[in-house]
Amino acid sequence: MKTLFDKTKILNMEMKNRFLRGALWVALADEKGHVTKELSDVYEEIAKGGVGTIITGYTFITEDEQPNPNMLGIYNDSFIDEYKDFTNMIHKHGSNIIMQIVYGGFMTNFNVGERVIWGPSTMKNEVTGTMAKEMSKDEIKYLVSKYAEAAKRVKASGFDGVEIHCGHGYMLSQFLSPYYNKREDEYGGTIENRGRIIFEIYEAMREAVGKEFPILIKINSADYTSFNGLSEEDSLYVARKLAELGIDAIEVTGGNESIKDVKENNLGAARRRVALSKENESYFKDYAIKLSKSIDKPVILVGGNRHFEVMDDILKNSEIEYFSLSRPLTSEPDLINKWAKGDLKAPKCVSCNACYNTIGKRCILNIKKKKINL
Ligand SMILES: Cc1cc2nc3c(=O)[nH]c(=O)nc-3n(C[C@H](O)[C@H](O)[C@H](O)COP(=O)(O)O)c2cc1C
Ligand code: SF4
Repeated sequence: MKTLFDKTKILNMEMKNRFLRGALWVALADEKGHVTKELSDVYEEIAKGGVGTIITGYTFITEDEQPNPNMLGIYNDSFIDEYKDFTNMIHKHGSNIIMQIVYGGFMTNFNVGERVIWGPSTMKNEVTGTMAKEMSKDEIKYLVSKYAEAAKRVKASGFDGVEIHCGHGYMLSQFLSPYYNKREDEYGGTIENRGRIIFEIYEAMREAVGKEFPILIKINSADYTSFNGLSEEDSLYVARKLAELGIDAIEVTGGNESIKDVKENNLGAARRRVALSKENESYFKDYAIKLSKSIDKPVILVGGNRHFEVMDDILKNSEIEYFSLSRPLTSEPDLINKWAKGDLKAPKCVSCNACYNTIGKRCILNIKKKKINL
């Protein structure tokens, strides 16, 4: 019988339990994207707290494209040595560390005046108000090559794997979404075409890192808009095709936060008030269960995982193999150690999302306790 503390492997990456820290931008890198002591301390506390695998916050892959301030970067080789120290530190505490990489596109308000923002189509993002310029095929080719170069650096830096961010309204999820992808060439229209850039990126990354290095993707299960967004059916097509191509794991998320009604209806990736009822928890599980039944690659569920017993039940009654927790490990980095010791109480996180507005994305509950200024 499967348990949440089983020792398992994704490819050759050994995992001491089935918990991951979902990618979370802590906004503590320096202005060029380099590791700082403050950032390293946050990750060290999480690694000491017992989680099997940590996924970094989203990391930018070209120097001129950074969707948010103080993100990590991996856009040239100058990062490799410092990341070796960083990954060694995490490994010393017994956790794995995977880097999530991203190209943001028009899901940004950061330094917008200074840069050309690419997108699938020339359109304004209705949430950020930022205009994107439709990418030419040469620009798509260039971007594919940048993902591959970044993946190679991730491997050289001692990370245990690399994850493609294909959710939440950032560039690759814009390509998947008919709401923002209006292209008439082979990168738009049918879901085969809307997914093409992602398949090309995956294959270029695989070529760059070889067969033994885990490549994961975090993908929207749907946009959850009442307008014409990505449907679950189309998302399933893309996820299954990636599994066929050889991706090593699929982390299921959802919600296109570039579309107004998604946030208004609390249908984004980090939903509020999850803790009010167990019924609200693990809110992408229905899709993830469907996906897990139809592919032979591990599925990781993220989004509102809270009670130990809810995850245990999902694990035992589906093919879902892993569970990511993001906000709960912000409020309690040692949550997994507590659970390992048999103290199975629910996380303290109340899903208020106030951490989005604190320096270092810290939990407001801890700020009050420690009297840290906001
Ligand atoms: C402050 C903050 C930053 C986040 N940054 C990222 C990120 O860099 N990449 C990503 O894929 N998701 C990011 N997320 C979303 C989380 O990984 C996760 O999908 C979401 O919070 C739901 O999971 P949870 O209920 O366990 O928090 C972020 C969430 C928060 C609250
Ligand atoms: S501020 Fe704390 S309690 Fe609120 S969502 Fe963030 S981690 Fe959870």
